[in-house]
Amino acid sequence: MILKVARLGHPVIRTRAREVAAEEIPSREFQRLLDDMVETMREYNGVGLAAPQVHISLELAVIEVAHNLRYPDAPTVPLTFLINPRIEARSKETVDGWEGCLSIPELRGLVPRWREIRVQALGRKGEPLDFVARDFHARVIQHEYDHLKGEVYLDRMRDMRSLAHLAEWQRFVVEALAREAEPE
Ligand code: NI
Repeated sequence: MILKVARLGHPVIRTRAREVAAEEIPSREFQRLLDDMVETMREYNGVGLAAPQVHISLELAVIEVAHNLRYPDAPTVPLTFLINPRIEARSKETVDGWEGCLSIPELRGLVPRWREIRVQALGRKGEPLDFVARDFHARVIQHEYDHLKGEVYLDRMRDMRSLAHLAEWQRFVVEALAREAEPE
C-alpha cells in the first residue's frame, strides 16, 4: 500500500522517533509497514524513506538506489532496512552534495555530510547489521538518520543560498555539471 507522505510543517517531521522494540520486528503489522515503506519510496522515486515521513514515529528507514539508465555511473545501493540505526563518522572529512526530500517537495540544496560512516542497525528480521558506507551511500543514510531525530537537510545546510527549485536546479546545476563532465 502506498502511504501518505508527511511534509515539512507536520509535527511528526520534527518529532524525535522512538526506538523499535525487538518484539515488534517479527509482527505482521510491522513487516507490512516495511513493505508499504518500500512501495511508497519506489512510487515517489525516493532513494530513502524514514518512518516519520509516513507519520510513524519509529526509528526505522529504508534505502535503495536503483540502477538508473540515464546516469549509468551513479552508485547503486541494494534495498536495505535500518531499524534503530546508530552512525559514527570514520573521519572528520565532509563532502558537499545535493539533496532533496520527499517531505520538502520540489527543492534541492547543497548539504555537507561525513564522507565515510560506520552504521550499526538491525535489519528486516532483527539481525544485527554493521557496515561502512561511503560517499553517496553514506549521504543517503545520514539524511534518513536525521529524520529519526526530527531533523531535515535544511538544518544542515551551510548556506541557504544554494537552495533551488527543482526545475531551475535541473536547468542551471545539472546541465552545467553535465557540460563539465563531457570528455574533451
Ligand atoms: Ni528526507
